[in-house]
Amino acid sequence: MSAGARARTAALLAAAAVVLGGCGSSGSGGGDNSGGGGGAAPKLEGRGPITFATGKDTSGNMQKLVDQWNTDHPDEKVTITELPEAADEQRNRMIQNAQVESAEYSVLNLDVIWTAEFAANRWIVALPQDQFDLDKFLKPAVDTAMYRDKMYAMPVYSDGGLLYYRKDLLTKAGVSEPPKTWAEMKTACDKVKALPEAKSIGCYAGQFDKYEGLTVNFSEAVQSAGGTVVDDSGKPTVNSQQAKDGLNFLVDGLKSGEIPKAAITYQEEPGRRAFQDGQLLFHRQWPYQWAKANATDGSSKVAGKFDVAPLPGKDGPGVSTLGGHNFAISAFAPNKATALDFIKFFSSEEAERSNLLATSQAPTRSALYDEAALKEKFPYLPTLKASIDNAAPRPKVVKYGDVTAAIQEAAYSAMTGDKPTDQALSDLQTKLEELTKQ
Ligand code: GLC
Repeated sequence: MSAGARARTAALLAAAAVVLGGCGSSGSGGGDNSGGGGGAAPKLEGRGPITFATGKDTSGNMQKLVDQWNTDHPDEKVTITELPEAADEQRNRMIQNAQVESAEYSVLNLDVIWTAEFAANRWIVALPQDQFDLDKFLKPAVDTAMYRDKMYAMPVYSDGGLLYYRKDLLTKAGVSEPPKTWAEMKTACDKVKALPEAKSIGCYAGQFDKYEGLTVNFSEAVQSAGGTVVDDSGKPTVNSQQAKDGLNFLVDGLKSGEIPKAAITYQEEPGRRAFQDGQLLFHRQWPYQWAKANATDGSSKVAGKFDVAPLPGKDGPGVSTLGGHNFAISAFAPNKATALDFIKFFSSEEAERSNLLATSQAPTRSALYDEAALKEKFPYLPTLKASIDNAAPRPKVVKYGDVTAAIQEAAYSAMTGDKPTDQALSDLQTKLEELTKQ
């Protein structure tokens, strides 16, 4: 089928779905391509081979689950298409494909922040909410998959920021508790650096390269100083003292050397390698690092030597930015019935448990956080659950790409000394006001 024909079929299916749904929910404008939220299921048809476009399969467990699916579904085989490592580049690839209505990607592993943009542009189709037991999933994760009260994706992995710390070094330096504030973190680091073996250790790092990870880390710094990037009504709020304190935590850290210079280039993976190489005392990172840094095959120098704690903040515990990944179905791909079943399989309890065991990523199924055997193997689970429950979502806007680019620009220019903090934030406030204007 040509791309044009496929698009017409998709449009017809979408129109049919609206009819089947009875009516679009009121207030849901041009972006609709399905029936009402919890109501009649939009019909997803066609069975056969599909592809699954996703970021790097760092553990190999995705392929394992796909192999399992393929054994059970010889006529509906799934092929993984691996996308680049950075979130922004994954988004670019997916958008390029969608803009030419390419059928190359069937199931999309979407970052939680892209739902609005992909749904409003009709690049993904609405999912039949009544076929998913959403009550069994973490509510913050479910919220990221909804757009205008309809479900457009299924939350498969969640993510919450954690403070990884070298327990061995803290203990040796006489620090018995992980820090709850930035000031305590600095004091603890000074004590550890007085140990001969840790003289040159970096105090703290996160993801500070100019990409989505910087938006996450900037937002966390602002939130952890008591501020917000946008308020509950969606209004930008970065012209505040709290935002200034948050950004200055990063700016001053780089200036003083507590944050090593190299950290300005860190995405998740380079930072993880630095931590597991013993170069960092404290590291803000997602839960997937737990399994990697605990590997006992010689790849990590810190296996068994670290623990995790809630993120610290200015005057008390910090507030994570909500991360995670949702699976959606491309509007332009054939075999949508297969795609739907594949998503159900990946979000099944069995698949989520297998993923947790192999990767230490955050499940979206609440029950897994309470399973005794899992809690024993992954003692950080309660801390992670709290991080996710208290996390702040990033702005839920259709123009998310422009919003995140503006945040990255502002944070990076202040952190590299190109702009004073005040100037960077007031420019950002103006930019965000423009971008979020209704
Ligand atoms: C992780 C998170 C995702 C976030 C990205 C930033 O993959 O799950 O939500 O946007 O990191 O690098």
